[in-house]
Amino acid sequence: MSYNPEIPKNRYDNYGDREWTRLEKDGHGELLYHVHFDILKRYINENDKVLEIGAGSGRYTKDIVKMCNELTVGDISSHQIEFNKSKMKELSLFDKIKLFCVLDVLDMGIFEDSSFDCVVCIGGVINYLLDKEKDGINEMLRVLKPGGTLIVGAMSFIGASLYYLDGIRYEKDQFGLEATKWVFNTGIQDEEHYPVPSKHYVHMMRSSEMDALFADYPITIKERSSAGLFTQAGDSALENARQDKEFWKLIIEKEIAFTKMQGTLDCGMNIIYVLEKN
Ligand SMILES: C[S@@+](CC[C@H](N)C(=O)[O-])C[C@H]1O[C@@H](n2cnc3c(N)ncnc32)[C@H](O)[C@@H]1O
Repeated sequence: MSYNPEIPKNRYDNYGDREWTRLEKDGHGELLYHVHFDILKRYINENDKVLEIGAGSGRYTKDIVKMCNELTVGDISSHQIEFNKSKMKELSLFDKIKLFCVLDVLDMGIFEDSSFDCVVCIGGVINYLLDKEKDGINEMLRVLKPGGTLIVGAMSFIGASLYYLDGIRYEKDQFGLEATKWVFNTGIQDEEHYPVPSKHYVHMMRSSEMDALFADYPITIKERSSAGLFTQAGDSALENARQDKEFWKLIIEKEIAFTKMQGTLDCGMNIIYVLEKN
């Protein structure tokens, strides 16, 4: 199956405020938020010109804008861009953002080469690109200055398969064992092999695939992290942990620390790579 921009566009145009509440409505969302926030804070500098692509409703926009000198916000979904704008207005941050644009990461021709010190693309944009993954990386590296930082996050296949095991077993009865083997072997749920009714057609990644994806580029990998590692404890254990404030504070600290360990890289719900363009 090849990349179809209508799939992410339709999905996120019909998302309501789910994207805004996603990172605070439960423990899983909070874990993701804290790991990403910690990485953004450590790599974005106050003088940086930053592009946030696939920004969604702005959960990280509101933070990134305070970390840098100039922020451009892009997303394929006009709904998400409008939502992001209204949230930034509500938070009195709107005027601090240079530009909001509806655009596909595969075609960022409105930006010249080497325009940004940092490009942030987190929350799974690259999972939708399928046969165009390398084109997406090319385009992000093109608009990045030499010496600049690219922060890319993807949904993790192994993490998702641990968390959603029962769903995968249920889907085996619908699509058959061969389809289940396909998804385990490739991480790809697509129309041809794994036709989920939601039409959420994505390539969920392994870290080995992220390594292969970046292997041919003139980049240096600065950091690899998982995110949403304690999510594997299950919803009720996580919610109990969250109700115990001092315990939850400790879990957030440990989430940030443990997600940097090589052995956990594929086990969280997301995988984040921080790269420097040589
Ligand atoms: C799960 S949301 C993540 C939002 C935010 N970055 C976060 O981590 O909370 C994914 C976002 O990527 C956008 N997106 C998906 N494919 C894209 C593409 N090819 N180009 C630009 N944005 C895209 C979607 O519209 C959606 O807003």
